[in-house]
Amino acid sequence: MEKPLFLELGGGSGALAYDILSYCRQREPELFERLSYYIYDFSPALVSLQRNRLKDFEGKVFWCEELFPMEGVIFSNEFFDCLPVHVVREGKELYVKDRSEEWAEISEPRIWHVLRRLGYEDLKQVVEVCLDCIDFLKKVSENLLKGYHLVIDYGYTSKELHRFPEGTVVAYRGHKVYSKALELSEPADITAHVNFSLLEEYGRDFGLEKVFLMSLRDFLLSSPAFMEELEKLSFSEKPEDIERLSRLKTMLISMGDRFKVLLQRTLSSSS
Ligand SMILES: C[S@@+](CC[C@H](N)C(=O)[O-])C[C@H]1O[C@@H](n2cnc3c(N)ncnc32)[C@H](O)[C@@H]1O
Repeated sequence: MEKPLFLELGGGSGALAYDILSYCRQREPELFERLSYYIYDFSPALVSLQRNRLKDFEGKVFWCEELFPMEGVIFSNEFFDCLPVHVVREGKELYVKDRSEEWAEISEPRIWHVLRRLGYEDLKQVVEVCLDCIDFLKKVSENLLKGYHLVIDYGYTSKELHRFPEGTVVAYRGHKVYSKALELSEPADITAHVNFSLLEEYGRDFGLEKVFLMSLRDFLLSSPAFMEELEKLSFSEKPEDIERLSRLKTMLISMGDRFKVLLQRTLSSSS
C-alpha cells in the first residue's frame, strides 16, 4: 500500500502506539514515512494522556471520533474485552436490580440468535454474549476497504468455553479483582474475556476472512523481530538486558493460551 493507515481501537495510555511508532521509525524508516497512525477512543481523559505520550510523533498520529473508510490495518490490544456483555444461563439472562442479582427473560432476540449460531443453546453453564462485539466488527468490516484486522486480547474459543462455567466477567479496582461487579460501590473497570469464535464466525459473515488465530505466545515466537530481540538479549551481559530477558520469558510462560491473536483480512486483500 502506498499510504497505509494504522488504526488502533482503544489507545489506553498510548503505550502500544508509542512502541509501534518508535519501532517503525527505527527499524522500518521507509514504512514510517508512508504511514499514518490513527487512534479511536471514547475517553477524553485517555485521549489527552495519549496526546501527551505521543508528542514525539506530531503530524504522524491523529485521533478520530468515528471509523472512516480506509485501507491498511485496524487493530486492537485489550479493546474488545471492554465492551459490555449479556450474561446468560440456561435460557435466562442476569439482571442487577436494587443491588441484587435476578435471572429473568432474555432481553433481546439477537442473543438467542448468537446462542443458536454458536451452538450454545443447550449448555448448562454461564455464557456471555457480546452483541457490541458483533456491531463493532461490522463497523470495522464496513470501513476497512482493503487490509487487515488484528485483535489481541484475552479470550477463548467455543472449544474452551467449558473452562469458564461461571463466566469470565470481573471488575478491577486499584489492584483488587472483584468477581462480582455487584460488590462494588464505586466505578471500576469491568471486563469479560473475548469470544474469539464469535469474532471469527461473524467476521466471515461480514467479509473478513480468518488468516490465523493463535495464542499470543505462539504469535510472538513466530515473529522474527521478537526472536531476534530474545537472541540479542541472551548474549548481552548488561544488567538491564538480563532483567528484560527474564521479564520476557516470564511473560511468555505466564500468558499461557489465554491471550490470543486473531488476524482477519478483507477479501480484496488476498487478490
Ligand atoms: C486497555 S485500554 C487499551 C490499551 C492499549 N491498546 C495498549 O495496548 O496500550 C482500552 C481502551 O479502550 C477504550 N475503549 C473502551 N471501550 C470503548 C468504546 N466502546 N469505544 C471507544 N473506545 C473504547 C478505553 O477508553 C481505553 O483507552
